[in-house]
Amino acid sequence: MRFLPDQGSTRAAVIGMGYMGSTVAATLAGEGVDVVGIDVDPALIAQLEQRRCPFSEPGLPELLHSGLDSGRLRVTTDYGEVSDADVVIIAVGTPVQDTRLVDFYLRAACTKLAGQLREGQLVILKSTVPPGVSRKIVAPLLEGGGLAVGEDFGLAFCPERLSEGRALHELRTFPIAVGGWCPDSAAAAAAFWQRTIDAEIIICGSMESAEMVKLANNWWIDHNIAMANELAKLCAVLDVDVLQVIAAANTMRKGTGNVNILLPSVGVGGSCLTKDPWMAWRAARDHGVELATIPVAREVNDAMPGYTVDLITEELARAGRPLADAKIAVLGVAFKNNTGDLRATPVLPVVTGLREGGAEVAVFDPLADAAEVEKVFGVAQAQTAREALAGADCIAVLARHDEFAEIDFVALRESVAPSCVIVDGRAYYSPETIDRFRRHGFSYRGIGR
Ligand SMILES: NC(=O)c1ccc[n+]([C@@H]2O[C@H](COP(=O)([O-])OP(=O)(O)OC[C@H]3O[C@@H](n4cnc5c(N)ncnc54)[C@H](O)[C@@H]3O)[C@@H](O)[C@H]2O)c1
Repeated sequence: MRFLPDQGSTRAAVIGMGYMGSTVAATLAGEGVDVVGIDVDPALIAQLEQRRCPFSEPGLPELLHSGLDSGRLRVTTDYGEVSDADVVIIAVGTPVQDTRLVDFYLRAACTKLAGQLREGQLVILKSTVPPGVSRKIVAPLLEGGGLAVGEDFGLAFCPERLSEGRALHELRTFPIAVGGWCPDSAAAAAAFWQRTIDAEIIICGSMESAEMVKLANNWWIDHNIAMANELAKLCAVLDVDVLQVIAAANTMRKGTGNVNILLPSVGVGGSCLTKDPWMAWRAARDHGVELATIPVAREVNDAMPGYTVDLITEELARAGRPLADAKIAVLGVAFKNNTGDLRATPVLPVVTGLREGGAEVAVFDPLADAAEVEKVFGVAQAQTAREALAGADCIAVLARHDEFAEIDFVALRESVAPSCVIVDGRAYYSPETIDRFRRHGFSYRGIGR
């Protein structure tokens, strides 16, 4: 097969050993692939070499460590290692600023890579990009080394669609969309994923089509959550539990599956949903098409932290406690449940809003890096949940990690204020748990509940 050896074990290089690159590299090494992970950040490479995984992802530290221990995974800052690989996967960051792609990292990676490519290799771009970037930016930069794409080396775009917290499982089980520069490139990329993680493959008609798959996925998710958030606002004023409505609504069959309204929450954060829809919006505008739904969904979701601050303020007032005199314990500061990732976390604007209202705010997140919490939130986090809760007028659960299930607020009743309010930003407590809170003198409010 062109661009992939027919026999023997496949060797891969992963460029960009951040959250996504490390997950892909560790998974491939776990499947027996000889992998070299390359990153420009020497501190990150040193951390990984010392078996310190900076990413909070269930199972990832163990997988990275076993790959490193076995020698199937090596990490380096040296691009020279690329020449030994059969397949080179690009996983560098692709942020967006003012709705436009910041292509600096991608350009730098492709420029460096160009000087190292050799004939017969396959390059797979996994970073999320607007349509046309693989063809118009990546391909010409890679050709800068003197080799011709489609002739001397293959090129494919395969979006990464995993979500944090379930990444290792999703990486192995989600179908992989493949868009090739040419049919040989697409065939080689498909064969690579089949051989390594035995993934179901969806061949897209072009690289642009595969690029759009990823953007369509995140556009849909962001839009769906915006609808759930507005549904929650309506249910709140009707005194209807939004989760009951969603559970029942989702039993209706539609299209090839069921209606699938996602869950309302304190807000949408993370490094993908906050930027990827803008890539689609900007691409449309650059082609003379004005998309209306993307700015609306982003606006709705970005307003949820403010809505949460108002909800906390209201509930405290109902309990006779002005926000300015209140102590609030925030449990979970990451951008969603079961991750320690603080990138674009909606909890930050909530904490800022509460502080601006004069409240004292203690924060605790067992999954987040303590130094990172201090940097982002400007305050050292409590050592334990119990310490954060001491004397609290409000417990705001804004990311509910599985380990919070062990904290029994009722058992800690004496440690918090008599009129303590529990505000549920995404814990989605069951009606039985909520009843139990109320029986023990807590008041309870959730988003749309
Ligand atoms: N985080 C997710 O859940 C997720 C999911 C799917 C897709 N993605 C996409 O994957 C890509 C990477 O995201 P991430 O979350 O891993 O980002 P990240 O910021 O965690 O990692 C990016 C890494 O690339 C490295 N880097 C930058 N320039 C480089 C260069 N020239 N050469 C080598 N390394 C370089 C950085 O040092 C960093 O370690 C983005 O396009 C993102 O949209 C992320």
